[in-house]
Amino acid sequence: MISQESIQEIQRRIDIIDIIGTFVKLKKRGANYLGNCPFHNEKTPSFTVSPSKEIYKCFGCGKSGNTIGFLMDHEKYSYVETLRWLAERYNIDLKETETSPEFKALQHTADSLFAINHFARDFFTNTLFNSDEGTDIALSYLRERGFREETIKKFQLGFNPSSKNEFANTAISHQFNKELLLKTGIVVNRDDKLTDNYRGRIIFPIHNLSGKILGFGARVIKSNDRAPKYINTPENEIYVKSKLLYGSYFARTAIDKANECLLVEGYTDVISLHQAGIENVVASGGTSLTTDQIRLIKKYTHNLTIVYDGDNAGIKAALRGLDLAVEEGLNVNLVLIPDKEDPDSFVNKIGAAAFTDFIKKQKKDFILFQLEIALKESEDDSTKKSAVVNQIAETISKINKTEDFTRRQDYIKKVSEILKVEESGFNALVNKLIREKINKQDARFFPPNNVSQAIPEPNQTENENTGAYHELIQKDELHEQAVVRNLIEFGLKEWDENLKVADYLLSQIDESDLSELLDNKTLVDIINIYRDWYRKGKEPTEKNFLYHENNEIKNLIIKIMDVQTEISPRWKDHYEGYIATREDLYKEEIISTLTYLQLRKVKRLIADNQAELEKASNPEEQLICIETHQHLKLLEIELTKRAGTVIYK
Ligand code: GTP
Ligand code: MN
Repeated sequence: MISQESIQEIQRRIDIIDIIGTFVKLKKRGANYLGNCPFHNEKTPSFTVSPSKEIYKCFGCGKSGNTIGFLMDHEKYSYVETLRWLAERYNIDLKETETSPEFKALQHTADSLFAINHFARDFFTNTLFNSDEGTDIALSYLRERGFREETIKKFQLGFNPSSKNEFANTAISHQFNKELLLKTGIVVNRDDKLTDNYRGRIIFPIHNLSGKILGFGARVIKSNDRAPKYINTPENEIYVKSKLLYGSYFARTAIDKANECLLVEGYTDVISLHQAGIENVVASGGTSLTTDQIRLIKKYTHNLTIVYDGDNAGIKAALRGLDLAVEEGLNVNLVLIPDKEDPDSFVNKIGAAAFTDFIKKQKKDFILFQLEIALKESEDDSTKKSAVVNQIAETISKINKTEDFTRRQDYIKKVSEILKVEESGFNALVNKLIREKINKQDARFFPPNNVSQAIPEPNQTENENTGAYHELIQKDELHEQAVVRNLIEFGLKEWDENLKVADYLLSQIDESDLSELLDNKTLVDIINIYRDWYRKGKEPTEKNFLYHENNEIKNLIIKIMDVQTEISPRWKDHYEGYIATREDLYKEEIISTLTYLQLRKVKRLIADNQAELEKASNPEEQLICIETHQHLKLLEIELTKRAGTVIYK
């Protein structure tokens, strides 16, 4: 936690013109400053910064805020990251409160690793431009591949000399710690001596979102079968492969503006595309996307376009990561580069304009692309085709974020056309999968506790060991009867200081939903008669009903009030044990009975709602069903808890 003092210090020091001026070219206009808005594309400036009010406002797109808000929005920093950034900028020593020693140590290691990487980058770029070997071998190689000097400088490419330990010696003479040097992976231990690990390789620094260097990729210049083409930094406190994307530092603003992120495989693909003016591009390093990487992209855009080599054998592996992207709510498109080219070689071959055009024309929806491939493979085989239908329904069912309903419906329409299946049937299939997913999630979020086990599903066969009580609660009818029995037997007893049991019970089983709570119509009638009498000031007793003119009512009352001769022996044993204290426990008994019935009602509503969801044919309906479901589930869990505390008292 950053201390309040430090936060105030930062706020005092903030100069909005200085900070925003770092990212936007500002010109003074009267009391304010004006520039081109960094949040949308514009030719005439409408982005205004007021130094006196310390706010910015864009009259084009409407974005506005203060300096901290600007950094959070533009740089996608969190609040804390923004404070750290500002503190560094203004050389403010951040006072932290409540930091654990472990965290401090970690922070310290991370800072040291960054420092080494920073030093190493300068060493490598210096070697590339200012040593004979660097210019003769490395720089000329890069030039030959078509990288211009400004591009090489922008990406801070470098070169590690081919001699054994030039970097290691320099680093040690600068008093860097050996352990930490080893951690960065730039040097390794050979015969007890620190040796350069990237000897004779071109160095690609890998930046985090604020431009600090997390690690390196190092590429051989002359291909050699025995050495790997690339060596990467090993995992350490700051280099976590699954969380980074190469080029994100250089691409972030362009991705934001274009509202699209291109994903390629390699370092050189990123660099060449940048050089061609296509800057919204990052690289995965050839492995399938992880959730962390997807979230990194999602900070900037929901539109992900994969640009991969068409003949790549690894394409299927790469595609696997994309299901995850769909699940995370990204809109995924795919472009395949033809003829054994990769984006780097292809853009160099056909030029920037043609490349952009190619992307635009070839861009295919990922889900439909998968379908195309699968259909080609299944041809006229009907078993295979039905597997395809299921597979695609599965993928579509993963688009379950609330904001994506329209998208999902679009897919259902398109896919049913392509597959030549009935849209309503396909829709039902997708909805069924969604329902199954929801059920699975429920099982995770609402783990069954004692009580939901104690209240089995209606058709569950009885387990001998669970005892008579289960038998009791399985019998819905008995529970329904219990409400009436409670009402008649305890109705005139005190509920609390102000209310009688009848007041309370009748308020809980409102006339309007009584028929939803109780299936037995005669019981409903009895309660309504009681209610009527009670309202008129009468104090209804068992006797009033025993002599009721309606035979059905009369018989049912006899049946209910004489439970002990009516029910199974096992239940009876239990009930008799219970009856001894019933007089004392009537409040608990009432709550328990009511809770059971409410729980049953909620369970039924959940089932109805799920049936509805299966039939739902438009996004609004589905949304309502899913929201209803979540609401009911919460209700269920609460009732279950309540039932638990009462039953086991
Ligand atoms: P160039 O051949 O220089 O154009 O590089 P490239 O980026 O096109 O390489 P390639 O298409 O072969 O590989 C794509 C990405 O996979 C690279 O940028 C690396 O991130 C990664 N990669 C390739 N080869 C290796 C390797 O031998 N080891 C490791 N760790 N990564 C590799
Ligand atoms: Mn390549």
